[in-house]
Amino acid sequence: MGESITAADRPAALACSAQELTCGDAASTATGSLTTTLLSPSPYLSSPLDSNKRRRSTTPRAHCQTRTLDSSAMAMAALLLLLPLFFLGAVLVLHAARTRRVGEKAGLKPYPLLGHLPQFLANRHRIMDWMTEVLASQPTCTLVFRRPGGVRGIITANPANVEHILRAGFDNFPKGPRFASLLHDFLGRGIFNADGEAWRSQRKAASYEFNTRSLRVFVAQSVHRELHGRLIPLLRRAVSSGQPIDIQDTLERYAFDNICRVAFDHDPGQLPDGDEDGDGASPEAESAAIEKSRFADAFRDAANLSAGRFRYAVPGFWKIKKAFSLGSERRLRESIAIVHGYADRIIRSRREEMSMGCEKHDLLSRFMASQSDNYTETALRDVVISFLLAGRETTSSALTWFFWLLSSRPEVERRIRDEVAAVRARRAQGDLDNAGFDLDELREMHYVHAAITESMRLYPPVPVNFQQAKAADVLPDGTAVGPGWFVAYNSYTTGRMESVWGKDAGEYMPERWLDAAEGTFRPESPFRYMAFHAGPRICLGKEMAYIQMKSIVACVLEEFKLEVDGGYRPRQVASLTLRMADGLPVKVKARGN
Ligand code: HEM
Repeated sequence: MGESITAADRPAALACSAQELTCGDAASTATGSLTTTLLSPSPYLSSPLDSNKRRRSTTPRAHCQTRTLDSSAMAMAALLLLLPLFFLGAVLVLHAARTRRVGEKAGLKPYPLLGHLPQFLANRHRIMDWMTEVLASQPTCTLVFRRPGGVRGIITANPANVEHILRAGFDNFPKGPRFASLLHDFLGRGIFNADGEAWRSQRKAASYEFNTRSLRVFVAQSVHRELHGRLIPLLRRAVSSGQPIDIQDTLERYAFDNICRVAFDHDPGQLPDGDEDGDGASPEAESAAIEKSRFADAFRDAANLSAGRFRYAVPGFWKIKKAFSLGSERRLRESIAIVHGYADRIIRSRREEMSMGCEKHDLLSRFMASQSDNYTETALRDVVISFLLAGRETTSSALTWFFWLLSSRPEVERRIRDEVAAVRARRAQGDLDNAGFDLDELREMHYVHAAITESMRLYPPVPVNFQQAKAADVLPDGTAVGPGWFVAYNSYTTGRMESVWGKDAGEYMPERWLDAAEGTFRPESPFRYMAFHAGPRICLGKEMAYIQMKSIVACVLEEFKLEVDGGYRPRQVASLTLRMADGLPVKVKARGN
């Protein structure tokens, strides 16, 4: 039987999980920009005006007159400013009182002018759980959401709606111009950010490559190399030192090394090699390591700051910051320049290698070989960056939540270890101790597959996904959608809906994915389980992700136990993926056998 994540052993698993709106200075910007826009002229303007005023009052008399004039003018200005504020305050208080009277559900009545923004801001530290409560309280698990600035859209956790949006109505619900403009600086027109023909042609080429056996083998080799050359040795060192490590950070480094290898056969060296601890390298190796690390840091910043653009309370405020190159937008421009410059250099040198007949198996080389006439260097860069983004934080997010759930579920851990041991035991005698598992062996691990899948039901790496309606439409539950509205589905919420998963929706139960008679993995409709999206844009890297995740889970749990402090309550943070705000500190223990 599974155990409840809301039950005694993890009492605060849901209650304490909280999403921070922040990403760099995005949260302060979100609230700050809202406050600035609603309550005062821009702070960037107020200081110079004040200092001019001070400079004008030079003599005592003039000072006196100016002061009299200034004070009456100021009183008048204050009155003019306060009146609308007073009026607005009164409206809000009356509205809140009325809302309280008509009960819980009406707590989501939009405020005049502000829409749902006050509730959104009040709950931004626990946004996923708030959305879950809100959507669960709606008759069809769908909310029409209003914000200031005319942005309006729907958020749904209703599988019939999701199926309509992602499949039947696919052409009417593209990512849309808003999504594209927010991510364009970073992703260009890469597959992640493209619609229409630009998306279709990349999807066709990429689908072909992702389905080749040679790519699967290359992925498995890259996973094996990073796992046994770096991750396992790092965990052994952690056992010896007895020092806790942040497994989220470690897994993110692993995933970035891995996806860079698969996407463009490049090693950013985010995890140290073998028994290295990072000291004693030659000066050349050190400067190469610094450059690689600059690339990885810049990539992380560019992804986080781009994601931050989605969270402005006043949509489009980032454009003003961008125009003046201020704060987060300046930092974003700088990080994007580093990432693009680095990728461009790799693409140029790959062209040279390929013109000399060098054969490579990574995605970039495959794209170059198959589409060399059609792809400009910028287009190739866009393709590669989209792949890096897709593979960078998703598997690490999934595994971090998985190891956290597992730390309080010894029975699930035991079943995983039994299955892994059984698969190993089926090997020929001479291969018994070979490190790792091949693709066929991974395929035999049904329980491991189920345990990871179940964890992503409750903690999907991409918790919310947005499209934009081109034309008006009516969803299957009767919700009317206007042209230009955002249309989002929430996988986190859907995974917790009793109406979708039954009374035990909140419980972590790998068994729900297994055929009771055969014990084999039984997939669900992708419109109920949307961790990997669904329809024509379903994740291309799903199989690659499972190869990586199952390899890590099998090999790590064979040799180690990852212990989490029982009192640790992760806080959620959503950048583009669902992460733990403070990482996941674990003590790594060697298995006794
Ligand atoms: C646990 C791991 C992963 C999860 C949960 C996941 C989930 C998703 C989701 C939800 C989307 C839709 C995103 C959107 O349209 O905005 C997506 C798209 C995509 N994913 Fe994954 N992903 C994972 C791993 C990977 C990996 C390792 C790759 C490898 C490159 C990858 C490649 C892609 C690509 C290329 C797309 C875009 C597909 C398209 O728009 O046609 N994913 N993924």
